[in-house]
Amino acid sequence: MVLDALARIVKVQLPAYLKRIPLPSSLHGFTQLTVVEWLRLLPFLGVLALLGYLAIRPFISRKKQQKDSLINLKIQKENPKVVNEINIEDLQFTTAAYCRCWRSKTFPVCDGSHKKHNDLTGDNVGPLIIKKKEV
Ligand code: FES
Repeated sequence: MVLDALARIVKVQLPAYLKRIPLPSSLHGFTQLTVVEWLRLLPFLGVLALLGYLAIRPFISRKKQQKDSLINLKIQKENPKVVNEINIEDLQFTTAAYCRCWRSKTFPVCDGSHKKHNDLTGDNVGPLIIKKKEV
């Protein structure tokens, strides 16, 4: 029953519908279409646009997802892993702020770039502040 209906749609109704579509044979032909012809053509063009979008969507979202997942956009990209080591004994001041947003121009030291990043993205990142007790 279902296959019979599907077969009728594919073999009879779809070809009849496609025959009635006023698809011009050239780009200039689109300018010659009447309003009624445009109204008959729009659902067909909408389906084509939807199919085209569905065909390219996996590539678009994958690229966007990859960009969204990167935290470090530019610091020491030549290294497979960025590691910084700081000895507390070497701190010159009693307080030091280290970047956790990966946007600082003085990385690993925070230069306040996280404020601009937070304003632009709505994020809430901030530095790691290390305090040394004075002896
Ligand atoms: Fe990155 Fe301040 S600049 S946390």
